[in-house]
Amino acid sequence: MIAVANQKGGVGKTTTAVQLAAFFAHRGFRTLLVDLDPQANATSSLGIDRGQLETTVYEALLEPEGAESAVLADVRPGLDLLPSSGLLAGAEVELVATPQREFRLRAALQHLAPRYAVVLVDCPPSLGLLTVNALVAARAVLVPIQCEYLPLEGLAQLVTTLDLVKRRLNPPLDVIGVVLTMFDARTRLALQVVQEVRRAFGARVFRAIIPRAVRLAEAPSHGQTIFEYDPASRAARAYNELGAELLERLGLCTVPEPIESAQGTP
Ligand SMILES: Nc1ncnc2c1ncn2[C@@H]1O[C@H](COP(=O)(O)OP(=O)(O)OP(=O)(O)O)[C@@H](O)[C@H]1O
Ligand SMILES: [Mg+2]
Repeated sequence: MIAVANQKGGVGKTTTAVQLAAFFAHRGFRTLLVDLDPQANATSSLGIDRGQLETTVYEALLEPEGAESAVLADVRPGLDLLPSSGLLAGAEVELVATPQREFRLRAALQHLAPRYAVVLVDCPPSLGLLTVNALVAARAVLVPIQCEYLPLEGLAQLVTTLDLVKRRLNPPLDVIGVVLTMFDARTRLALQVVQEVRRAFGARVFRAIIPRAVRLAEAPSHGQTIFEYDPASRAARAYNELGAELLERLGLCTVPEPIESAQGTP
């Protein structure tokens, strides 16, 4: 189970979570994407109308035993979604008073997770209780960093939180990797960020770098992944490379036959 987390907003968490979920599903790995952000961007990126949802991850957090009923099966072949809703905005406050408040997502996913080869959690842009729930449920954290501003200050805060969660709540938690997003080779700043992040995180930084690409910003408004919207784009290629690297790091190298679908060719 992988949490995609960074408390800074707009760094590419949702985009990365959605494309990786599509990548894994297309490669034949049964995948669950959990949308843990009240903005519900991952949910809408996949073309799901959140106004139509009766149960969501919000209900699953309040009543973990009933989590299964909130799962939308096969939003794509091999890909299930635990969708979000705006109600989740209140959950951060409501959960404070509940027992085991950091363990609600873990409890909700306990029975579900064994059905999947991969579970990805898209976190909100904060280090509040929702993100902590994701970090407690997960084995691994994937940190997207945008190449458009020097990030190291905010990252120190993230690393402190990860250490804390690891020590107190979830010892197996590990950073599976750092992914550089929104890279524009024409700017000096981007090159500088790549250098600094590589210096700080070394081999944890994925070789694949996600370019700044208009196609990636457009795809969600069509309810499509990049593999559906423009499978030949540089962005699709980059997310393919990232997915392949992640498979390797997860030890899931034995790639099953891809599922036949209209999903393009990640
Ligand atoms: N590589 C990219 N190139 C261009 N636009 C991108 C790229 N990645 C993401 N975007 C766009 O940038 C915006 C922010 O991306 P995204 O929603 O993935 O970030 P986020 O970290 O999930 O944001 P939040 O913190 O608000 O949840 C979105 O409009 C998205 O479509
Ligand atoms: Mg997001």
